[in-house]
Amino acid sequence: MKTDTDFHMAKGEGESSYINNSRLQRKALFETRQVIKKAVRELCPIVLPRNLVVVDLGCSLGENTFIFVSEVINAMSDHPLEVQFFLNDLPGNDFNYIFRSLESFKKMVAVEHKGGTLPPFYVAGLPGSYYTRLFPSQSVHLFHSSYCLHWRSQLPGELDVNAKTYLNKGNIYIANTTPLSVVKLYQQLFQMDLLLFLKLRYEELVFGGQMVLTFLGRKNEDVYKGDLNHLCGLLALSIQSLVQKGLVQEEKLNAFNLPVYGPSIDEVTAVVRKSELFHIRFAKLFESNWDPYDDSRGHVVQDSLQSGVNVAKSIRAVMEPLFMSHFGGSVLDELFKEYARNVAKHLQKEKTKYSVIVMSLQRR
Ligand SMILES: C[S@@+](CC[C@H](N)C(=O)[O-])C[C@H]1O[C@@H](n2cnc3c(N)ncnc32)[C@H](O)[C@@H]1O
Repeated sequence: MKTDTDFHMAKGEGESSYINNSRLQRKALFETRQVIKKAVRELCPIVLPRNLVVVDLGCSLGENTFIFVSEVINAMSDHPLEVQFFLNDLPGNDFNYIFRSLESFKKMVAVEHKGGTLPPFYVAGLPGSYYTRLFPSQSVHLFHSSYCLHWRSQLPGELDVNAKTYLNKGNIYIANTTPLSVVKLYQQLFQMDLLLFLKLRYEELVFGGQMVLTFLGRKNEDVYKGDLNHLCGLLALSIQSLVQKGLVQEEKLNAFNLPVYGPSIDEVTAVVRKSELFHIRFAKLFESNWDPYDDSRGHVVQDSLQSGVNVAKSIRAVMEPLFMSHFGGSVLDELFKEYARNVAKHLQKEKTKYSVIVMSLQRR
């Protein structure tokens, strides 16, 4: 699978679809709504001519992108402006699903704003990688992206399966046995990707334009001790057990590395500062329970078996197409059952959370 064109979330409306398993990502939108609101309120008065251009990068196919759209509409309710939304994702995304849902979304928004002012809004889909230019120069006021920027544009060069150099054997991400040279490859690619992303968006934003970016990160400065490492480590363990059962070839596991990277806030701000293109208006890290249905703040997992199943479903909805193209569809049910068991065992010992970074940037 090519990460710059074919990558996408699990399609359809079935049990393992992204649509039915994106509560984790939805919670992040609610957590960051004040940051979005503030950016919109600041941008409205400076918009000339009188229409705002807003983009959701990596919109996927669920209702989450519409939650973002309605947050923006609500935030601009005092301003007599029109707004053009562009919903962006890779060409492999099911844009038709979004387009089919648009009419019912518009009706819902109209009902919500009955009696109040509803700014005229227009929605368009925009396929393409956000690691390429997507818009004409200085034509966008606000970029938003949620749960996307931890995905890399490609695999770190020397980890490429075609190179047949299995530098990270038995792992699928950075783990305790991952050589430092491989960690460096991941870090270099993260820095390159983020720098490129900033340069591209800088070109496309109007002067003073803003970005609200939310993505998975790392609380611990130690690159071996991130929450993503833990989560992917349990996934690698599950694939290893399929290798032992003869369901997956060991070489297939050795050749697989996830194109993700969870940076610390310091790593991110270092790249932004180095770029000299944006002011950092706001940056914070918040935590979110692995189990999307666990909204409790405490340190105890009430039902670790159920939480294991919930985590496995949410990860499957994101990873399924990627795993299907590498390992084949026939092993997926067994793999994610094993994963649910491994996550449950882990959560019994320790309640674990994602670290999510949200930052608000303003173009210089
Ligand atoms: C976990 S989903 C998040 C979707 C949505 N923002 C939400 O909050 O539910 C991540 C999305 O990022 C998209 N994505 C990953 N890399 C991308 C890229 N280079 N350009 C555009 N979209 C990308 C994926 O296709 C996927 O739809």
